[in-house]
Amino acid sequence: MGSKSNEEHTGPETTEAQESEAETKGCRILIENITRSFGPFVALSDITMSILPGSITVIIGGSGAGKTTLLRLLIGLDKPTSGRIIIDNEDASAMSETQLNQLRKKLGMVFQYSALLDSMTVLENVAFPLREHRRDLKEKDIVELVREKLSILGLAGTEARLPSELSGGMKKRAALARALMLEPKALFYDEPTSGLDPLSARLVDRLIEETRDRFGVTSVVISHDMAGALSIADEICLLSQGKLVASGPPREFSKGHHPLARAFIAASGIRQHSDAGAVGGFDKSG
Ligand SMILES: Nc1ncnc2c1ncn2[C@@H]1O[C@H](COP(=O)(O)OP(=O)(O)OP(=O)(O)O)[C@@H](O)[C@H]1O
Ligand SMILES: [Mg+2]
Repeated sequence: MGSKSNEEHTGPETTEAQESEAETKGCRILIENITRSFGPFVALSDITMSILPGSITVIIGGSGAGKTTLLRLLIGLDKPTSGRIIIDNEDASAMSETQLNQLRKKLGMVFQYSALLDSMTVLENVAFPLREHRRDLKEKDIVELVREKLSILGLAGTEARLPSELSGGMKKRAALARALMLEPKALFYDEPTSGLDPLSARLVDRLIEETRDRFGVTSVVISHDMAGALSIADEICLLSQGKLVASGPPREFSKGHHPLARAFIAASGIRQHSDAGAVGGFDKSG
């Protein structure tokens, strides 16, 4: 399979209203029958998902489930063996390297270990994407844009510090500031709460929500953290051995019809309510 066609994809159910929504509120991502094999090993098998503009999707699953493999496909670092990834009506899986470079400017990535450059100050780290891609900007404008993002993320005054002089949570926020500099239409977070204490993890969850609310970005979060997923997700997708085994909004998901979904919820220590699906203090409405 693996359609090589360059024809423009117009989604089967895409309306004009959805198109203009996508323009203002982050991009729409369609994952159509994606398979990724490494030799005989099938790391992802026939995954289909529809990610709405401005939504938060949490992809959860055990080690080796295929989460990072899927993320790499979504940000164009890898290509599927078959199937298509459609971002804002463009087939990313059929793009040339030049087209992918253009597309990647619309996509921000917050790496698992922040990936700040140790020898650069916070200001230089956060300014990096502007220096690479916005050569039209003057130094003074760059500093102003960086200060503005740092201030929004509660990092005002840290400009001159080195990453080693920041706490774990501050590093994640600096990495988020950097990812936001080119005003992406989608943000991808790889394990944003791993390595943080539970309170800092919840602060990062709030930050992901606030970032979506403020900038309207479509957000895809890779996580092991069920409590966080139930708290922030519009949609949770559970991967197991390369397959999408359960998905749905937290209320549906927390009813835990799938045994692995139940096991994840049980392992996270969240008490399940069989009634309305409110989940131990992390119900979105409360
Ligand atoms: N380049 C590769 N070559 C061969 N196998 C690979 C490659 N990349 C990933 N895999 C395999 O695909 C499977 C899924 O890997 P992936 O990194 O996506 O897991 P994950 O869900 O991110 O796990 P973790 O939570 O441990 O990060 C694993 O069995 C892994 O060994
Ligand atoms: Mg991984």
